[in-house]
Amino acid sequence: MKKKVLGVLLAATMAVGMLAGCGGGSEEPAADAPAEEATEAPAAEEEAAPADDSAAAGDTITIGFAQVGHESDWRTASTKSCQDVFSADNGYDLSFVDCDNDSAAQLEAVRNFIQQDVDYIIIDPIVSTGWDTVLTECEDAGIPVIVIDRTIDDSDKYAAWVGSNFKTEGLAAGEWLKAYAEKKGISEINALVISGTTGASAQIGRSEGFQEIADREGWNILDEQTGDFTEDGGQAVMESYCKSYAGKFNVVVCQNDNEAFGAMTAMDNAGVTYGLDGDVILISFDACTAGLEKVKARQFSADFECNPLAAPFVEEVIQTLQSGGTPEKEVYMEEHWFALPDAIVDFSIDGAAQTMTEVTDDVIAAQY
Ligand code: AHR
Repeated sequence: MKKKVLGVLLAATMAVGMLAGCGGGSEEPAADAPAEEATEAPAAEEEAAPADDSAAAGDTITIGFAQVGHESDWRTASTKSCQDVFSADNGYDLSFVDCDNDSAAQLEAVRNFIQQDVDYIIIDPIVSTGWDTVLTECEDAGIPVIVIDRTIDDSDKYAAWVGSNFKTEGLAAGEWLKAYAEKKGISEINALVISGTTGASAQIGRSEGFQEIADREGWNILDEQTGDFTEDGGQAVMESYCKSYAGKFNVVVCQNDNEAFGAMTAMDNAGVTYGLDGDVILISFDACTAGLEKVKARQFSADFECNPLAAPFVEEVIQTLQSGGTPEKEVYMEEHWFALPDAIVDFSIDGAAQTMTEVTDDVIAAQY
C-alpha cells in the first residue's frame, strides 16, 4: 500500500519536473552554482496527507544503499555518515552493499534491493551513465531512489540527488593555481593530472573545470591518466609520469587525497620535491583529515573539499517523502578550499569571490 502511494507521488513529481524543464538528472550540476552555497535542508514544497503511516507508527524504514566501494578516505567517511544516520536506533534497517567499483555489481545490488522490497534505495553511482533501465524498474516497483555524491546523467527517474558540484571544484583548483602562480612569479605551467575513475561524474566535472582554466590561460597539460581514486593507482601513474616527464613538469593535480598520497611516494622515490617548499605544486581534492594533515605539513599546496557527509540531508529527503511532501530535486553540499597562509590567495569563480580556509590543528580535528 505504502509503495503504491509513494510510487504515484514520485511519478507525479517527476512528471511536473519534466514539464517544468528542470529534470536535474540529465546534466552535470550547473558549474555556476555558488561554490560556497550553503546546503539547505530539503524543504517540503507541499504537505500532502502522509504517504505512509509507518513513521507515525514508529515502524522501521528499510533502505538499500549501493555504495561505490572502499577506495578512499572520502568513501569511508561517506559510508560512516550513512551508517550513523540510518541506524537501528534512528528507526532504520540499512542494507549496505560495497560494490567494489564494479558497475555490474552495483546494478545487481539495486535489483536485489527491489527484490527485497525495501522502502528506499540510495545509490552513489560509480559512473554517470547506464542507469535509465534499472531506475525504471525501481519506479515500476514504487521504490523511491535517492542519488548521493556522483550524478546520474542519463535518467531523472529518482526523487532527489544530494552531492557536490565537481566542475566548481575543478574550476576552484584552476583559479587558485592561476592566482598562486602569479604570486610566486611562475609564468609557465606544465601540469600532470591524475584523474579519478573514468566516467564518474567526480572525474568528469573536476577534469572539465580544471581544463577550462588551463585552456583560458594557455597552460600545458602534459598528460592525464586515471589513478581510479586509489593510493596505489596514484602511485603507479606518478611513477610512470616521473619516468616519462622527468624535469618537465611543475604542477601535479590529483583528483583525490589518496591518489595524492600515492603520488607523493612516487615523487619521493624519484627525488622530486613538491608542496610549498618544493619544485612541484601539488593540488588535491577531498580535504579529508589525512589530506589536511598533508596541507599542514606543507606537502599539499592546496586541497579542495568534496563533502562526504550527505546522509543527514538524505534523511530529510526521506522524511519529506514519508510525510507526503516533495523534496528538493538537487541539494548541494557546502564545501571549502584549504591551504596554509603562504598559499591563501584571492581568486574568484565566474565573478564570485572565493574564501579560503587556513588549515590549523582545530580545522583538522573537526574534519572527517
Ligand atoms: O565521488 C567522490 C569521489 O569518490 C571522491 O573524491 C573520491 O575520494 C572518491 O573515491
